[in-house]
Amino acid sequence: LVFPDRVSACDAAAERVAHALRSAVATRGQAILGLATGSTPEPIYAHLVKLHREGTLSFANVATYNLDEYYPISPLDPNSYRSYMHRHLFGAVDLPANRAHVLDGTVPESAAAEHAAQYDRWIAADGGLDFQLLGLGRNGHIGFNEPTDLSAEAAMRLPTRLVDLHPTTRADAAKDFGGESRVIPRALTVGVAPILAARSILVVAFGPNKAESVAQSLRGPITAQVPGSLLQAAPGTVTWILDEAAAQAL
Ligand code: GLP
Repeated sequence: LVFPDRVSACDAAAERVAHALRSAVATRGQAILGLATGSTPEPIYAHLVKLHREGTLSFANVATYNLDEYYPISPLDPNSYRSYMHRHLFGAVDLPANRAHVLDGTVPESAAAEHAAQYDRWIAADGGLDFQLLGLGRNGHIGFNEPTDLSAEAAMRLPTRLVDLHPTTRADAAKDFGGESRVIPRALTVGVAPILAARSILVVAFGPNKAESVAQSLRGPITAQVPGSLLQAAPGTVTWILDEAAAQAL
């Protein structure tokens, strides 16, 4: 779906999140949402907060699982995705605090693999993700699943884990950290496998910087060099919401 600008695109994206939430609560009694960070979804969260304030959207029966977190990082660090989520959504809606999950950037490194595996078990124990909101990196990454030399089949099996950030990702995060050399170079990310297992996926990408990775993801071969292209193999529904600039190379 291509919109003339990001405002109309984000309004449509937020209405889709709200619809997925309400229909999962109506049919299963709860909604399990996978959430993304970055600049792209900020207006989506603002729209959801507005719906909540107007009294038409409740998060009381919702659990959320965020996609990723820098590692190591304190949740109190303004660059942590935990604090991002608090600023943009968690602090402004009725989501139960113990149902708002973000990978923990403070686990000791020796426990990171077990923490990541436990995150996947928690998602599974909640019945899997009803809905996954995704952004797209300039290099085609989803969450912090960066381009790799693995086969596409192997990449699709990647679980939640500790990863090294790609140079493009570090360059894009430089503005938040006050310089590229200060960007935390590792992260915990939900794996490709649990993302693909979501029953419905919404990818949002805006601006000319994303046009190439959008085109490669949607029209190119399915390859682990462009993690967004792995979404072509997702068994559930995948919807892309773009502005005209992000759609220009399609
Ligand atoms: C970040 C996040 C991704 C996000 C992407 C795009 O590094 N880990 O989940 O989708 O990069 O960010 P932005 O929306 O700011 O362009």
